[in-house]
Amino acid sequence: MNTLKKATVYGLTVFSLLACKPGQDSTEQKIDALLSKMTLKEKIGQMNQLTGLGLAEDMQGAIRNGEIGSILNELDLATTNKLQHIAVEESRLGIPLIFARDVIHGFKTIFPIPLGQAASWNPQVAENGARVAALEASSVGIRWTFAPMIDISRDPRWGRIAESCGEDPYLTSIMGNAMIKGFQGDTLSSPTSIAACAKHFAAYGASESGKDYNTTWIPELQLRELYLPPFKAAVDAGAATFMCSFNDINGVPSSGSTFLNRQILRDEWKYDGLLVSDWGSIQQMIPHGFCADLKEAGEKAAIAGVDMDMMSYAYINHLEELIKEKKVDEKLIDESVRNILRLKFRLGLFDNPYIKEGAPSAFYLDSSLQQAKEAAIESAVLLKNNLQTLPLNSSVKSVAVVGPLADAPADQVGTWCFDAEPEHCVTPLTAIQQECENKIRVIAEPGLTYSRDKSEAGIDKAVAAARQADVILFFAGEEAVLSGEARCRADISLPGKQTEMLRALKATGKPVVLVIMAGRPLTIPEEVDMADAVLYTFHSGTMAGPAISDLLFGKAVPSGKLPVTLPRIVGQVPIYYAHKNTGRPASNITLIDDIEVGAKQTSIGFTSYHLDAGDSPLFPFGYGLSYTTFTYGDCQLSAGDIKPGDVLTVACDVTNSGSYDAQEVVQLYIRDKVGSLVRPVKELKGFKKVMIKAGETQKVEFTLTSDDLAYWNADMQQRAEIGDFTVWIAPDSQSGVGADFKLTN
Ligand code: BGC
Repeated sequence: MNTLKKATVYGLTVFSLLACKPGQDSTEQKIDALLSKMTLKEKIGQMNQLTGLGLAEDMQGAIRNGEIGSILNELDLATTNKLQHIAVEESRLGIPLIFARDVIHGFKTIFPIPLGQAASWNPQVAENGARVAALEASSVGIRWTFAPMIDISRDPRWGRIAESCGEDPYLTSIMGNAMIKGFQGDTLSSPTSIAACAKHFAAYGASESGKDYNTTWIPELQLRELYLPPFKAAVDAGAATFMCSFNDINGVPSSGSTFLNRQILRDEWKYDGLLVSDWGSIQQMIPHGFCADLKEAGEKAAIAGVDMDMMSYAYINHLEELIKEKKVDEKLIDESVRNILRLKFRLGLFDNPYIKEGAPSAFYLDSSLQQAKEAAIESAVLLKNNLQTLPLNSSVKSVAVVGPLADAPADQVGTWCFDAEPEHCVTPLTAIQQECENKIRVIAEPGLTYSRDKSEAGIDKAVAAARQADVILFFAGEEAVLSGEARCRADISLPGKQTEMLRALKATGKPVVLVIMAGRPLTIPEEVDMADAVLYTFHSGTMAGPAISDLLFGKAVPSGKLPVTLPRIVGQVPIYYAHKNTGRPASNITLIDDIEVGAKQTSIGFTSYHLDAGDSPLFPFGYGLSYTTFTYGDCQLSAGDIKPGDVLTVACDVTNSGSYDAQEVVQLYIRDKVGSLVRPVKELKGFKKVMIKAGETQKVEFTLTSDDLAYWNADMQQRAEIGDFTVWIAPDSQSGVGADFKLTN
C-alpha cells in the first residue's frame, strides 16, 4: 500500500543521501567494497539488533548466518568474545558485531544522574563521568552506549527528567557534548572509546502531562528552537549514533518520521552516523495507530531512515518481502547498511574485534572513585542555609542521621544503572560515621525504612535520636525506582510519611538539615520552610556519601546550580525560566486566602498567575547558594550597539565577599525586547564556572555576536532581528541588573 513516494510527503528528497561520499576516503571505499559483496539477507541482518540477556547462546546460528548486526545487554566477556569469533570467523563476510548497553551515568562506578551532573554546570564533570563509564564498559566489550539523553524536559512529573540535563537547550547542548566527548574519547577507534548515542530524537521530554511515551504536539518553530538544538550540537560534536524517540510528534511516531530522520537529520544536518530505533519503537507504531501490522511498521521505519531495528523484529521478518514487493527500495537499505558499517569501521571493530580477557580490572579505580566524588560534590545545590547552619562547625558534638535515604546504597545511585553494585556504594551514614569517628557522636535512626514508607512506627525513634543530638541530618527524597523510564508521578511531593517525619523532627527545636536525594525536582515548599538548611543532591551515585559528608562538614563548598526550575506545587508545571511575558505579566498578586469573602467579580487589574501559587517557582533555574557570598558588579558592555559580524564583550566583576574559597557559576542571559515573534523573558547564552578565592574579585567576560541573538522566525529561518536587547550577568535566572544594547544594520 505504501510506496516510496509517500516518503516525499514533507517535500523532502528521500534519496539525497544515497550517493553519500562514495570512495571519498578509504573507509567509504571499504564500505562500498563490502556492501557490493553482501546479499540482501546479510544487509538486513546488519540492521537487526537483539538483546543478549541470557539469550546469547541461542544466537550463534543467526550470527553465523549474518542475521544480527548488533547485540545489546550482553555483559559476559567470554560470551561476547565467543559470539564475536563466530561473527568474524564463521559468518560469510566476517562482519563484526557491536555490543551495546545503556551506560547512562556510569557502568560500575556510578556518577550523579545526568540531571545532577547538569547541576554542576561543569562540562568537565560530565566528560569525566562519561570517560570513566567508557573505560569500565569497554573492558567487557561494550562499544556503544545509549547516552547522552539530551531531551529538553520541563516537566518534573516525567520520570526521565532524571536522565536529562534539564530545561534549557543551551545548558543541555554543552553538557551533552561533554558526555559525547567523554564516551568517544580522542578517537572512536581506541579500544576504550564507546560510541555515544544522542537520544531520543526528538521531543520525548514534551510528552503530555509528563506521562511516559505520551503524545506531543509541537509547532515546527518550537521544535527547532527548543528541542532540536542539543541534537544539532550533538551532530557537530561527532555523536556516532542517534536514537529515535517513542513519542509521536503531531501524529507521526518518530520511528516513522521522514521529516525528522531524513529531512532534518540527513538532508539539513548532513549526519552520517547510525540511527537506531528505540526498544520496540518500530513495532509500537502499531498500537500508536500509525501502522496496521509489523510489516507496515518495518516499511515506514525503513522509508523514514531508521537504520537499525532494536527489538521489533520488523526488518528481519519483513524487509526482504517489502523490497521484493517494491514497497521499499533496496537503495534505502544500502544507505542504512552503509551507516552501520561506517560505525563498525570507525570503532575499529574490523581490526580489533575482540577484548583481551584477564586484563586488570577497569572497575572502581581510585581515580574513577575520586572523580565520581568530585562530581557528586559539584552536583549538590544548596537551596537554603539559615544562620549558616552549614557547614557544621566545631560546636556540633553530636548529629542525628535520620531518614530513609541515609543508608540506602541501591537508591543513591539513581535510575537506569543496571550494572551498579550497591556493595560498592558509600552511603551518607557510612561516610558521616567515618568523618565523625572519635570526634562527634553519630546517632543513626532511619525513622522510615524506604521513601514511600507509610508506617509511622519508626518516627518516634528518629525523634528520640534527634533529641539527643545537636543537629538533625534528615536524608529524604525518592527511591531510585521512582524516577527514570515509565516512573512518572502526578504528585511530585515527598512520598510516604517523610513530611510528617520532618514535622516531628522540627518540633524538637533542633536545627534540621534536609538533604534531598531524588531523581527529579520535588515540590517541597513546606519542607524548605521547616528546614534550617536544604541541600538538593539529586541521586549522586557511588560516592554520594563521602561527597555529601564533605559538604556538610565544610571540607567542600557547594557550587551546584539548578538545571531546572523547582515548582512550589505540581499545578505550576510546566514552569521554566525562559517563559513568555504575556500581555499581562504578573503583578499585584493576590493569593487565594487574601481574597475577601464575598468579594465581587471584577476584571480590572488582572494579571497572569495562579491564585494558589502566585507566579514564582520555589527556586528558579540557575539558583544555588554557597558557603561564601558572591557580589556581582555592573554589567559592562564594550559597546552600546553592535552590527551583524561585530563581537560584543560583556563583563562583570564578581567578588567573593565571604570567607570560603569557592566556585561560582556565572550566567549570561539575554532578552530580545521586541521580536517579530514574542521572545522569552530570558535566554541563557553562556556560563562560566570560576574559582574565586575569599576576598578576591574576578572579571568574568563573555562575548556575544548577532548569531547568539538569532532565533527561528515565522519564515522558518534562524535570524537575528534589529532592535533592543538586554543582557545580564547573574548568579541565577531571576536576579541581576541588566544592561541594554542594540543590534543595528
Ligand atoms: C529506552 C532507551 C534505552 C533502550 C535500551 C528503552 O526503553 O527508552 O533510552 O536506550 O530502552 O535499553
